[in-house]
Amino acid sequence: MHSGIRRWPPITRRWMQITLSGSVFMNMVIKKHAQEIDMLASQMIAEYVNKNPNRILVFPTGNTPLGLYKNLAGRVACHEVSFQNTYLVELDEYMGIAENDPRNLFKWLQRAFLDQVDFQDMRMYRFQADAADIEAETNRMDRVINDLGGIGLLVLGLGPNGHLGFNEPGSPFDAPTRAITLTPASIQSSAGYWGSSQTVPSMGLTLGMQALSLAQQTLLMVSGQHKAEILRQVINGEISPEIPATLLRTMQNVTILADADAASLL
Ligand code: PGA
Repeated sequence: MHSGIRRWPPITRRWMQITLSGSVFMNMVIKKHAQEIDMLASQMIAEYVNKNPNRILVFPTGNTPLGLYKNLAGRVACHEVSFQNTYLVELDEYMGIAENDPRNLFKWLQRAFLDQVDFQDMRMYRFQADAADIEAETNRMDRVINDLGGIGLLVLGLGPNGHLGFNEPGSPFDAPTRAITLTPASIQSSAGYWGSSQTVPSMGLTLGMQALSLAQQTLLMVSGQHKAEILRQVINGEISPEIPATLLRTMQNVTILADADAASLL
């Protein structure tokens, strides 16, 4: 599938541009330390929002973006960027979890990020994870995205099994926003957030692959040695729903930001 890799631009930033097919390119930036990835991602997000103040932004939960969120909060405090006119749509949520449950992922994002920046409440859209009619709820989120012009900027972490949001292996590339059973690998990796795997809900709600695939711009952040093998498969393996993140290789305007440990097998 790869027809070429070239460095671009050669002097100012150490970027690699991977030619995937025809006009599809994936930008890849490898930095020695995860903090450099945080800084660069924050700069790219601020640039995007300053140019596109009215678009939908999607942010992940997890350990990877914590440094990014601190960095963005600093930029908001210094008036370098504002999220007042942007929309936020929640990427994924545990199913059946009430709004005030400490495991609620929107609450997690509030603690880690939203409480430190200036999104307007009325412009934030979250899953109601304990809705009686889950299908109606996930359809509503797809409608919100459509009505607001699609995802503008999509920021993602990389699951240990290559999931995007909670689109687990086997998720078709045109899957809608929906409920999904979490894999043992995802439950295991989430166990670290909540103390034990027993406390991790067995099902999630996730924006669908279809909505993600239409994002105007995408940043995938990957750090740590434990992500090296899955990142290698995402970039060099077969494009397949078995590794959902290979969807990125079919999309326009994707940048992978990786630290040296995560990129060590490339
Ligand atoms: P992590 O999670 O950032 O905590 O590694 C990423 C993910 O599972 O999507």
